[in-house]
Amino acid sequence: MASITLEGLKKTYSGDVHAVKGIDLQIEDGEFVVLVGPSGCGKSTLLRMVAGLETITEGTLKIGERVVNKLEPAERDIAMVFQNYALYPHMTVYNNLAYGLKNRGFKKDEIDQRVQVAAKMLEIEEFLERKPRKLSGGQRQRVAMGRALVRDPAAFLFDEPLSNLDAKLRVQMRVEIKQLQRRLKTTSLYVTHDQLEAMTLGDRLVVLNAGQIEQVGTPMEIYARPATMFVAGFIGSPAMNMLPVDYLKTPGANGLLDNLPEGTDTVGIRPDDMHLTPPTAPHLTVDSTLALFEAAGAESHLYVNLAGSDQPTVIRVSGQPPVAEGETLRFYVPRDALHPFNSATGQRTGD
Ligand SMILES: Nc1ncnc2c1ncn2[C@@H]1O[C@H](COP(=O)(O)OP(=O)(O)OP(=O)(O)O)[C@@H](O)[C@H]1O
Ligand SMILES: [Mg+2]
Repeated sequence: MASITLEGLKKTYSGDVHAVKGIDLQIEDGEFVVLVGPSGCGKSTLLRMVAGLETITEGTLKIGERVVNKLEPAERDIAMVFQNYALYPHMTVYNNLAYGLKNRGFKKDEIDQRVQVAAKMLEIEEFLERKPRKLSGGQRQRVAMGRALVRDPAAFLFDEPLSNLDAKLRVQMRVEIKQLQRRLKTTSLYVTHDQLEAMTLGDRLVVLNAGQIEQVGTPMEIYARPATMFVAGFIGSPAMNMLPVDYLKTPGANGLLDNLPEGTDTVGIRPDDMHLTPPTAPHLTVDSTLALFEAAGAESHLYVNLAGSDQPTVIRVSGQPPVAEGETLRFYVPRDALHPFNSATGQRTGD
């Protein structure tokens, strides 16, 4: 096992596409780090540079203490799991698992033992003689993981491995990957654009935007204190509401907006932090009109317009409150739930 260190890592594709603009990151030995960001932000490019499938334009990549910039993928002792599984269709599951080991010159007994151990761990023993096309998507994904597992590599890289699965299976496989990584403690770098997958899987998250890191932290650190408006909007669902301070500066603000950090012109409020009954803590009182009511089973989403503005705002409450579209709705926000930002820089301005 090993740590992975990225120092000033950059990738420029021909045609002046700056896909990755200088990434500094240390992934500790045994850590599970999730790279999360919107489509096109450079996640796959970064992962492929670590794997050795893409050249590094600038910067240094280390696995353990070893600089690996110039090493071939096979020399890096890393296993990658792809979104499209990349299984060999004409080979049985057994041979798909064994193939990489055969290529590396492992003895037949050793190969068999490793394949059996991985198959057992992933519960695919009964499919070993089948071809991939006779497997479900989830089973194929397990085989793809098994192929990484048998190699017992220094690190795993995952590029959106669950995105071809249906929602239910995705959740199930997410839990399995997490449990597997806990058991094996193999250093892992996992790419996804799904913020919930990122939150639930990662020991730490790296939020990427347009080829640059926006924030690094544990899921709860990032959720509780997003460093930028981008992160605030990307992590958490429904997304954090961003409201100009001026919209909230009514008598209902109770003077609580008078001492915001210097430069604050926008406050972020999570949909969960807007309550239909007043909390005991110091809070703002905000009047709005209910534009749309969305019942989602255990919870409801209330889309409201703040009084005197057309600012769309979403409130999440548990259960189904007795409210009707079109009615005036008063909600309450604890002072501690406000996230202060400057809209010009996009940065958080204080606590
Ligand atoms: N081979 C290439 N040549 C030129 N530009 C490329 C190449 N591969 C990727 N890009 C560009 O680099 C940027 C980052 O792409 P990348 O595939 O890393 O994004 P991503 O974050 O993985 O996105 P997605 O979530 O859609 O998979 C994009 O603007 C993309 O168009
Ligand atoms: Mg990608």
